Amino acid sequence: MREVSSLRGNTEETAMIQSKIPVAVVTGGNRGIGYEVCRQLAKLGLTVVLTGRNEEQAKTASQELQKEKLMVCHYQLDVADQASVDRLAVFVAERMGRLDALVNNAGVFLDPHEASSGALESSAQRLASTFDTNCIGAFRLTQALAPAMIRNGGGRVVNVSSGLGQLSEMAGGYPAYRISKAALNALTRVLADELRDRKVLVNSVCPGWVKTDMGGPDAERTVEAGADGIVWAATLPPNGPTGGFFRDRQPIAW
Ligand SMILES: NC(=O)c1ccc[n+]([C@@H]2O[C@H](COP(=O)([O-])OP(=O)(O)OC[C@H]3O[C@@H](n4cnc5c(N)ncnc54)[C@H](OP(=O)(O)O)[C@@H]3O)[C@@H](O)[C@H]2O)c1
Repeated sequence: MREVSSLRGNTEETAMIQSKIPVAVVTGGNRGIGYEVCRQLAKLGLTVVLTGRNEEQAKTASQELQKEKLMVCHYQLDVADQASVDRLAVFVAERMGRLDALVNNAGVFLDPHEASSGALESSAQRLASTFDTNCIGAFRLTQALAPAMIRNGGGRVVNVSSGLGQLSEMAGGYPAYRISKAALNALTRVLADELRDRKVLVNSVCPGWVKTDMGGPDAERTVEAGADGIVWAATLPPNGPTGGFFRDRQPIAW
């Protein structure tokens, strides 16, 4: 076991890292579903890199989980910023030494909440901003971090998607969010096919309607329930599924 202190961006933190211990990176880990995913993965014994675009918030969140004796460190990451993604990739390669799971959880919902507000009332700018985080963010992260998984003999990528991105159920309203999640699902299929032979399993997971800042107080699920299927997909056995779309650990239609 080696002690890694003064991690770049984590100067007051000390993480104990053992090369045999699997490592996971979670985006948007400072709150909501991402935070609970960090907790559940760490409880399963993974070392978790909790990332957040606000460094102080990421640090506070990781310290909360450290109080539960969980192996969690933090790193600043804005998934819409390529330089930020590249810095994380260097950190993972040099300081963590391996990567087993990437959870592309960071997401934004920039559409007005009235379902009646549709594509004709929206803007190209809103669509582009939503895409940049919800779809291209996952693209950047996977491109930057898949090599670490491949070097390690394989890994798991989980794209946190949504039922609102299902083409089979597609309807009007929330156009930017819906289109970004449908595209994220397409990214899942592309990556799953390309990475299959390199033993990286890539799946989309819908957490259901979850009580978070995004889901709102009327949502039917707790963050614990929402995180469960994501954690399942991040820790699939080597013969697990790839290129699928899941909710509650069960396949759902695209
Ligand atoms: N809640 C639901 O009902 C529901 C349903 C289906 C799917 N989902 C999906 O589940 C995921 C998590 O949602 P949530 O409900 O936990 O939402 P949330 O509470 O609003 O949290 C969103 C997280 O994403 C982060 N984020 C946004 N843009 C980012 C960026 N550019 N770089 C890095 N992090 C960024 C936020 O960071 P900041 O704190 O810095 O803003 C925050 O940590 C999302 O992908 C969402 O689309 C949620």
